[in-house]
Amino acid sequence: MRKFLTRSLAVSAVALVALSTAACGDSERDASSNPSSGAAKGFAKDALIGVALPSKTSENWVLAGDLFTNGLKDAGFKSDVQYAGASTTVADQQSQITAMITKGAKVIVIGATDAAQLGTQVKAAKDAGAKVIAYDRLITGTADLDYYVAFDNFKVGQLQGQALLDGLKAKKATGPWTIELFSGSPDDNNAGVFFNGALDVLKPLIDKGELVVGSGQTDVKQTATQGWKAENAQSRMDAIINSTYAKGDKTLDGVLSPNDTLARAIITSVKAAGKPVPVVTGQDSEVESVKSIMAGEQYSTINKDTRKLVAETIKMVQKLQAGDEPEINDTKSYNNQAKIVPSYLLPPVIVTKANAAEAYANDPKLSPLTK
Ligand code: BGC
Repeated sequence: MRKFLTRSLAVSAVALVALSTAACGDSERDASSNPSSGAAKGFAKDALIGVALPSKTSENWVLAGDLFTNGLKDAGFKSDVQYAGASTTVADQQSQITAMITKGAKVIVIGATDAAQLGTQVKAAKDAGAKVIAYDRLITGTADLDYYVAFDNFKVGQLQGQALLDGLKAKKATGPWTIELFSGSPDDNNAGVFFNGALDVLKPLIDKGELVVGSGQTDVKQTATQGWKAENAQSRMDAIINSTYAKGDKTLDGVLSPNDTLARAIITSVKAAGKPVPVVTGQDSEVESVKSIMAGEQYSTINKDTRKLVAETIKMVQKLQAGDEPEINDTKSYNNQAKIVPSYLLPPVIVTKANAAEAYANDPKLSPLTK
C-alpha cells in the first residue's frame, strides 16, 4: 500500500492529498531505537493528566471525553479534560494545552483540532518534562511528539473504498458506476489518510473507467469538508446534484463519505432533491447511522470502538507513570514530517447491515439497534 502512495503522486491529481498528508512513509527507520521516544523516570500515581480534545464534530469525541474523565479517575490520576470550542478551535486548544502545562500535567493527550498548529505547545510540554500522546489524530511538524495512539487510519480508508465497491456491485453487478468523492477537514491529518486509503482501492478502477466521478471533482481541494461540518457536505452535495445530476441523464450510484455525520448530510441532500439514495459509506458507528444502515439507507460504517482507544491511551499513561516504555506496535507508518512517531494502532472493522449484529455484540448502546 505504501508503494501505491508514492507512485500515485506522480501520476494523479486524485492523489494530490498525499502531498499535504503525513502518513505511511517508506522509511525503514525504527523509532523504537530512538532515545527521545524513551520513557522518563515516571511520576506520582495521582499526577495530573491533561486531555485536549477537538470540538465535538462526531459522537466519538463526545464519548472520549467521558471515558477519559472516568478512566483516568479509576486509574488514580487527576484529570483535566477539555474540548476546543466550536469556532475558534485552534486558539482554544493551544491555550488549553498551555494551561495544562502550567498546572503541571505529566502527560498531555491531544486530539488535534489542527495537525500543523500545535508544535509550539508540544515543545513547551516537552520542555516542562511532560509526555505528549497524539490521540486519534496525528500532530505534524514536531519531533517533540512522543507517541501516537489511533485506529489504523489508512486501513479505515481502504475499508471504506472496498465497502463502496461491494455496495455498488450488490446494486448493479457490472460497471461503469457513477460516484462522488468526499473527504474530511483539511486541517485534520486523518482526512488525507482516509482519502488516500480509499483511493488505494478506488483509483485503479477510476483509471480503468469502471468508476466515473460524475462531477469530475477528484482533487482533495474539491472534495474537502472544512471543519468536518455536516452543512458543508450537504451544500456541496446540493451543488453537485444541481450541476451534474439535475437533468437526469446521469444516475448517482455511490458516494465515498469519510464519516457518518457527513454520510447523513449527503443522504439528506440526495433525498431533498428527490433522487434515489446511492451507496454511501461512513465511519464512527454513530447511533443515527447504525439505525440508517439497519433501515437500508446508509450502506456502511466503520467500528472504531472508542472505549478501546481510550483504554489503550490510559494504559500508555500508566506505563509512563511507572517509568516504563509504553507498548508500541508500529514504528514505520506515521511520519509526521519531523519523525516517525512510535504508534499503537488498533484495527478498524467495516460494518454493513450484514454483520452489524456481530460487530456490535459487545456494545450495549448499539447492539439493541441491530435486533
Ligand atoms: C476521526 C473520525 C471523525 C472525524 C470527525 C477524525 O479525525 O478519526 O472518527 O469522524 O475526525 O470528527
